[in-house]
Amino acid sequence: MNAKTEPLLAVRQLAVRHRVRRWLPFAPMRWLRAVDGVNLNLRAGETLALVGESGSGKSTLARALIGLQAVAAGSIRYDGRELVGLDRKAWPALRREIQMVFQDPQSSLNPRMRVRDILAEPLQALQPQLDASARSQRVERMLARVGLPAELLDQRAKKLSGGQCQRVAIARALICEPRLLICDEAVAALDVNAQLEVLELLRSVQAETGLAILFITHDLGIVRRFSDRVVVMYFGRVMEQARTAVLFETPRHPYTKALMASVPGADPAQRAALLRDGPAPDVTVPASGCLFTSRCPMADAECLRRVPYTRSLRDGAAVACHYIADDWVRGRGFGDA
Ligand SMILES: Nc1ncnc2c1ncn2[C@@H]1O[C@H](COP(=O)(O)OP(=O)(O)OP(=O)(O)O)[C@@H](O)[C@H]1O
Ligand code: SF4
Ligand SMILES: [Mg+2]
Repeated sequence: MNAKTEPLLAVRQLAVRHRVRRWLPFAPMRWLRAVDGVNLNLRAGETLALVGESGSGKSTLARALIGLQAVAAGSIRYDGRELVGLDRKAWPALRREIQMVFQDPQSSLNPRMRVRDILAEPLQALQPQLDASARSQRVERMLARVGLPAELLDQRAKKLSGGQCQRVAIARALICEPRLLICDEAVAALDVNAQLEVLELLRSVQAETGLAILFITHDLGIVRRFSDRVVVMYFGRVMEQARTAVLFETPRHPYTKALMASVPGADPAQRAALLRDGPAPDVTVPASGCLFTSRCPMADAECLRRVPYTRSLRDGAAVACHYIADDWVRGRGFGDA
């Protein structure tokens, strides 16, 4: 990965809001700030992991990036082109380049369709110049690449196991050779061996084609092994971004430290020391301080009073906390210097 190249994807001050259900008909409308002021860069050939506890806005952000979620504010530039406010008619052409694999494969595949047609469909739509025999060859090659036998080609999706479904969903996403792949918990349904196989497949496709991958997962083991950089989100905001090796060796943000101490097998006493048992922040109102205040063992009056801005550190990490034990070099950062 060349850190000097322009990002393929550049997200600036992105905000996405969800309407909160009203329990009384005349109650005022409320909006949940699911994504709030997010900045990130992703370059060709790079894998960026997006982590954070459940509800931190990872899927909302991913859906906004592929035009499935309305954006309240901010900018998403893909290959120099603004995607926020893009005409809906422009999206089908972009689909060849930007693909997403969802958490639940069964719901993203038509259960009545045969595997052959599931894989041929995007080729027909996005590469109509291919004739039937070229299409069929591509389908067969792709199925083999995701480790599935050719006998499955005539199987209907409803007959596939969860793991087979997920591999077919990944094959479908890769078959048109996208430039950006967004994986939202895409390997969570697979057993450990199948996870490793799929991750190796993605890595080899990436080495061949320069695919950029945004990888959403709860599994920090996968993050460490598979990603180049990491973005840590908490209730819609980015708390820390850094190169993967830097983040695991020197986590700076108190939330990153707590997240790392919450992996299975970690010492419960250490976790308790890093995470207070406080309430979740109310993200239906604008933040007036740090969102992590209620759970942060380091929190003080300043944390309640001021939203921390993101500081860039010398090793390229970017951290949104008033108190970080490092010299900071600039006022804004994307964890990729
Ligand atoms: N369509 C929706 N309408 C209203 N609220 C929503 C909607 N989708 C998500 N939310 C809320 O937005 C917040 C962020 O949800 P999101 O699914 O993006 O989180 P996540 O980080 O992907 O969580 P998980 O790890 O559980 O998948 C949560 O509070 C969620 O309840
Ligand atoms: S700004 Fe304060 S509350 Fe927020 S992470 Fe830093 S020390 Fe904790
Ligand atoms: Mg999610």
